[in-house]
Formats: sequence, C-alpha cells, structure tokens
Amino acid sequence: MYKKQILRTIYQSKDEYVSRETIKSEIGISDAQLTDEIKEIEEEGYEIESSTDGYRLIKTPNRLIPYELKRNLSTNYIGQEIHYYPEVDSTNEVAKKLAEEGATEGTIVIAESQYSGRGRRGKKWLSPSGGVWMTIILRPDIPIYKAPQLTLVTGVAVAETLDQECRLDVGIKWPNDILIGEKKVCGILTEVSANPNGLEYVVVGIGIDLNVDVDNFPPGLREGATSLKYELEKEISGAKLVQTFLSNFENLYNNFKIGKFPEILKEWRRLSKTIGSYVEVHKKGRVVRGEAVGITKEGVLILEMDDGSLRKVISGECIHQKGND
Ligand code: BTN
Repeated sequence: MYKKQILRTIYQSKDEYVSRETIKSEIGISDAQLTDEIKEIEEEGYEIESSTDGYRLIKTPNRLIPYELKRNLSTNYIGQEIHYYPEVDSTNEVAKKLAEEGATEGTIVIAESQYSGRGRRGKKWLSPSGGVWMTIILRPDIPIYKAPQLTLVTGVAVAETLDQECRLDVGIKWPNDILIGEKKVCGILTEVSANPNGLEYVVVGIGIDLNVDVDNFPPGLREGATSLKYELEKEISGAKLVQTFLSNFENLYNNFKIGKFPEILKEWRRLSKTIGSYVEVHKKGRVVRGEAVGITKEGVLILEMDDGSLRKVISGECIHQKGND
C-alpha cells in the first residue's frame, strides 16, 4: 500500500542510507507497517540493505513492474496507464477486452510471460519470462484501410529503440519482423476492431526477445531467432528499453496522426533489410521470388521478377535469400 512512497524516498537518497525515522515521518506509517512493506518490496525483487542507519537500495529487479516503467517515463499518454501481469494468456487478448470496456488511447498491457502468446497467421508465439510482451491500445481517427500502416510505424519505433539502446545490426524484414543480423528478435501483431461507422480501436502487440535464452527454444525456431541477451552476452534492463520504445513510439504515432506517414515510411525504407534483397514470399502454398525493390505508400512490397517485370505483394511470409542479393 505504501510501497511506491517508500521506494520513492529510498530512490531519492540515491546511494545513501535513509533512516527508518525519515521514512516513517515522511509517509506517516508505523514501525511495524514499515517492516512489513520493506519485506514486500524485497519479495518483488528489490535488494535493500538495512543497517542501524536505515535502508539503502542495492539493486532494482529487472522486471517490467509499473513503478519501474513509470519512473523516468517521458511520454504524455503512451504507457501512462499500465496493466501489468506476471503471467497472462496473451496481452493482445487482454488489451482487446480493455478496449471494449473503454480503455483510453495509449493504455498498455504488459506481461512477464504469456501462456497463449499469439503470432501472425495463427501461429503460437513463445513468450517465456525475460521477454517484453506488450500491447498498446490505440484509437486513431483514420479510415480502416490505413490501420495496417501502424505495424510499419511500430516496426520503425522498435528498430530505432534497439539501435539506440544496443547498437547492434538492427533492421526490419517486411512486413514487420525486427532482425539482428538475419535473426528475428521481435514480432508485431496488429489487430483491429471496426463497426459500420469505422475503426473502433487498434491493438498493437509487440514481442521482443530481450533476456530470453534462445537455446531453450525448440529446434526449428532456435535457428531463426535471437535475443538481445544472446547478442550482447549480458542482460539488459527491460524497463529502460520499454521506456525508450514508448517514447519513440509516441513521437512516431503523433506524426502518423497528422499525416506524416510518408516520412515514417522513408525511415522504414532506411531501416529495411528487405529492400535490395532477393526474397521469396510464401503465401497459402504459393511462392513468389524476386528482388525487393521498394514498398508502396500502403506498405505493399514491390518485387522485380527474374524477367524484369514488377509485382506487388500485399502479404505473406518473406524469406531473405542468401548470396543472391
Ligand atoms: C509475429 O508473428 O511475428 C508476431 C508476434 C507478436 C507477439 C506479441 S507478444 C505481445 C502480444 N501478445 C500476443 O499474444 N502476441 C503479441
């Protein structure tokens, strides 16, 4: 009940001890209450050193708890309302329910793990703890046909974030996979709800393999996947990464809402690992091959076929071909 206030007081004193008396009088709680609250804070994973001088924070848990996400969050509305779960079926499912109940634009649902994580085209999405499994609820005033553009906007926000935070070889594979080198580190699942009057809401689900051990992934997934922990050979702060992402996303989304999608698409093209590659696009058992030469303003991929003709591909599973680009 007083956890946030106690943490705020302990954080304020940085590396110094803060006395029990100071905490008690600042917050107005009893000695017994303070002892209980400190115990609960420690159970959440905070390491707190206690001595006759009082308490000192040693280590913050590397988890996505709202208090840590909100501390230093610089956005105006994206992520200001957080629904956090240690475990959930799918953050997209929870977000849809919340959106139906009237959740405001920018509300996020975030979980440490998902037991029914969903990927594109009905695939399962493996979501063990250590990853970032998050969904943003949006209510843009746009025609329905523009909603898929939000996947590209989100892809740019994720790629920019990983680039800023990790300085790795980050890029986007059409339409919405974020790669490090040629391995997938993040997927995006955008779902839309509409009625005869137009768009009701959009939920954008983002799954980032952050501090995930890809070696534990089943064969078949392991080869094409990576995690930031694997690439950097160390754990990185989930809260910091999410904060940077939310802020990048808010900037891009604000621009999107005022009609600046063409500018965002320019950035998408710059970050794209697909444009310029020879690719295979698989859809419903059919395969199209060619060099990816561009993307239209609707997000449609343009392939130059071997006979020199151009072909537009609206959707499908895109595979970059090695040594042919
Ligand atoms: C893909 O197939 O590449 C999309 C994967 C999207 C996974 C994320 S994790 C958070 C959100 N909740 C889900 O169930 N799926 C999305």
